[in-house]
Amino acid sequence: MANEQRNILTEKVISPLTIAHVVLKTGKPKPMVAYYKAFLGAHIQYENETICFLAYDEEHHRIAIINFPTLGPKQGAGLDHVAFTFDSLQDLVLAYKQRKTRGIVPIWCVNHGITTSMYYQDPDGNKIETQVQNFDTVEEANAYMTSTDFTENPIGVDFDPEELVKRLESGEDERDIKKKPNIGPRSIESVKSRVVPPPFAKDSYEPIYL
Ligand SMILES: [Fe+2]
Repeated sequence: MANEQRNILTEKVISPLTIAHVVLKTGKPKPMVAYYKAFLGAHIQYENETICFLAYDEEHHRIAIINFPTLGPKQGAGLDHVAFTFDSLQDLVLAYKQRKTRGIVPIWCVNHGITTSMYYQDPDGNKIETQVQNFDTVEEANAYMTSTDFTENPIGVDFDPEELVKRLESGEDERDIKKKPNIGPRSIESVKSRVVPPPFAKDSYEPIYL
């Protein structure tokens, strides 16, 4: 067997195949489940009084929500955000528009250079990034991360999502829209999502027909 010939002392630890799921604990399971169902286009695979498993692809669950009735919103140290990648800018924008009709809007939109990203927060204040790759290959992305542009400004350039929608719908090339403008150096203090509005919980995130 191949594994028996591996040297566990000198070889690096084997990397996992994929990230399987994220589990969140909350004091308000109903809004949290409703939010993630709406946010990810997910369905409930299984639920009981203490846990709910949500799925949206071939995996049995990608998100689980655990009910801890005494817990308040997230504060302080810990996980900052979880990121989900979309196939194209078209899909990222479609998801943005679909969420907006459900009352879910981003708290920060930024072109990171390597990705075009929209950040949200769930009813407990956990942050979620939705993104699309800006480069066609990981080699190009890795090369960009060694460039002066990235070294000067690894945070990125904020954008207005409605402006991005207009550019995309006017037929502008996705690659041009995804190009990060050069604004010179930028520090972490200028990031708006560091001071986010308090989380907002609803029991339903059904579309709002205007
Ligand atoms: Fe991220």
